[in-house]
Amino acid sequence: MKTINEQIIKTGFIALDESDKNLNLINEIQKLKKEKNAVILAHYYVDGLIQDIADFVGDSLALSQKAAETSADIIVFVGVHFMAETAKILSPNKKVILPDLNAGCSLADSCPDKDFEEFIKKHPNHTVISYVNTTAKVKALTDIVCTSSNAVKIVNSIPENEKIIFGPDRNLGNYISSLTGRKMIIWDGACHVHSEFSLEGILEQKKLNPEAIIIAHPECPKPIVTISEFVGSTSALINYTKKNQAKTFIVATEPGVIHEMKKESPDKFFIPAPGEDAECACSECEFMKLNSTEKLFTCLKYEQPEILIDEEIRKKAYKPIKRMLDLS
Ligand code: 13P
Ligand code: SF4
Repeated sequence: MKTINEQIIKTGFIALDESDKNLNLINEIQKLKKEKNAVILAHYYVDGLIQDIADFVGDSLALSQKAAETSADIIVFVGVHFMAETAKILSPNKKVILPDLNAGCSLADSCPDKDFEEFIKKHPNHTVISYVNTTAKVKALTDIVCTSSNAVKIVNSIPENEKIIFGPDRNLGNYISSLTGRKMIIWDGACHVHSEFSLEGILEQKKLNPEAIIIAHPECPKPIVTISEFVGSTSALINYTKKNQAKTFIVATEPGVIHEMKKESPDKFFIPAPGEDAECACSECEFMKLNSTEKLFTCLKYEQPEILIDEEIRKKAYKPIKRMLDLS
């Protein structure tokens, strides 16, 4: 029998004990949460069942705002690693736990801190704006963080005479540049989910459902953003489908958002935009989907795996996030 630490080192998460297998895990999670004064924060991309257990579900910006203001002793972050890390940067005295340490992000991975540091050195005297989908080390190299819901505001807050480096998402960077008219030096990174939607597949769906409205996340490439009637963060997309009179939407982002869209608008239809991959046309973020009820339970029970950040990096990463929150 492996110890908890050995299990985490080997697999990144804690497996359910044999003796816990017959428990009603949802009830147990609620009990543990109360006993330990824990709060469960979940992103819209995780499984619908987990979204329903969470205390708060939101987009990256709303989740970081919640993490900064919560009075809980433990933050259980049901999302991906950079999100839990952001919560820890904002609330260093709280215990922040993530059900599975393997829940990474291809976009954050597309921007290694050492390479980004070199990139910044090559372009001196620039203000560095980093998307929240980055590691703490990249945030520590940044002047101001943004999310997809406040990127226009953050870019517009930089005086006209300042030159800008924007990282790591090239699609978001180019989209924001086209909206604000600001020329920026953009890091060449992307999210493997959003960059792989199939333009032909979406147009085919539109042909089959001519009344449907195409909506997209700004991490999608330009051709998809161009054919979309609305582009926005996960929460902006949800709000749009709630307020818009249309009955059918083709949704070009991770299909986890459709859970909330259906809850808000039970009489409407949501078609997940197909991906390029013929074997998996579902476009799910496999990192977000690593979160499960079992891992959420074991994580709360053992209060591990825990997110820990070197204090010097944390302090440096705090400043650009705080600057963003003050502006939001
Ligand atoms: P939001 O900020 O819109 O929630 O997006 C997060 C994300 O990871 C998109 O892929
Ligand atoms: Fe990262 Fe893409 Fe998953 Fe969002 S959908 S968490 S950007 S890999």
